[in-house]
Amino acid sequence: MERLKVNLCGIELDNPIIPASGTFGFGYEFADIYDINKLGTFSFKGTTKDPRFGNPTPRAAECTAGIINSVGLQNPGVDKVIAEELPKLSKVFNKKVMANIGGFSVEEYAYVAERIAECEQVGWLEVNISCPNVHGGGMAMGADPNMAAAVTKAVRKVTDKPVIIKLSPNVTDIVSIAKACEAEGADGISLINTLLGMRINLKTRKPIIANKMGGFSGPAVFPVALRMVYQVASNVKIPVVGLGGVSRAEDVIEMMLAGATAVQVGAANLIDPAACSDIIDKLPSVMDKYGINKLSDIIGGAL
Ligand code: SIN
Repeated sequence: MERLKVNLCGIELDNPIIPASGTFGFGYEFADIYDINKLGTFSFKGTTKDPRFGNPTPRAAECTAGIINSVGLQNPGVDKVIAEELPKLSKVFNKKVMANIGGFSVEEYAYVAERIAECEQVGWLEVNISCPNVHGGGMAMGADPNMAAAVTKAVRKVTDKPVIIKLSPNVTDIVSIAKACEAEGADGISLINTLLGMRINLKTRKPIIANKMGGFSGPAVFPVALRMVYQVASNVKIPVVGLGGVSRAEDVIEMMLAGATAVQVGAANLIDPAACSDIIDKLPSVMDKYGINKLSDIIGGAL
């Protein structure tokens, strides 16, 4: 449907809906639930140089209007992703996919970026410098504009494919970090990753999550995400991908008005694996309700 189309860093999407990394596996796991080709694209599970078993359990805690996770970037490592996961995906998905990558040093990010960018099906790289659940990489890289710039520069050097840097909300000045990434050649910014949170079990009087803290996501974080998308979109010239608590077609429109070119859906997939399909189906009638002809017309409309 023409009116849902958007262009993300030079690649046309049939619609702006992108399941967020960590909530959609490597995509093929959802292919029995609905035809995943109806998505704009999706961002696959954060991939690192070496395989990772992830954090000790419990890794999840329910909250009012959200969930805390501390998965710890569990993934089979870049070699297996290329040799096993992407071939399985290509059997059921005929669009470009977003490759989410993680690392523990600037060199590791560059290594994984170079390897994964060589895969034909990869359209964009989403560089996660915002995972709150690992030490020595992740959020530590994204909390400092200089480190964020260094990772961006290193990844930029190894690929011509669009590079989108995924930022953490757990910082005081998100705009300076986004601008540092833009200055080093990022093609886009995605935000927000999860907010650092915790729950305590009243019976044991101990944190529920084995790692004590984890990343909070879900509908409760939507206003925070929207505010940060608005702030970043007001201050950079590159496209912004908005995410954080999006669970309805109305949220997608709000995110786009705040400046998002495309919108990721995360925790909602954990509640209803068909959430993204449902949002795409509902978008046209919600657009009609608010007098929106084409989604691309409203990007940044509230700025
Ligand atoms: C995780 O694997 O811990 C979640 C990924 C993230 O929050 O970046």
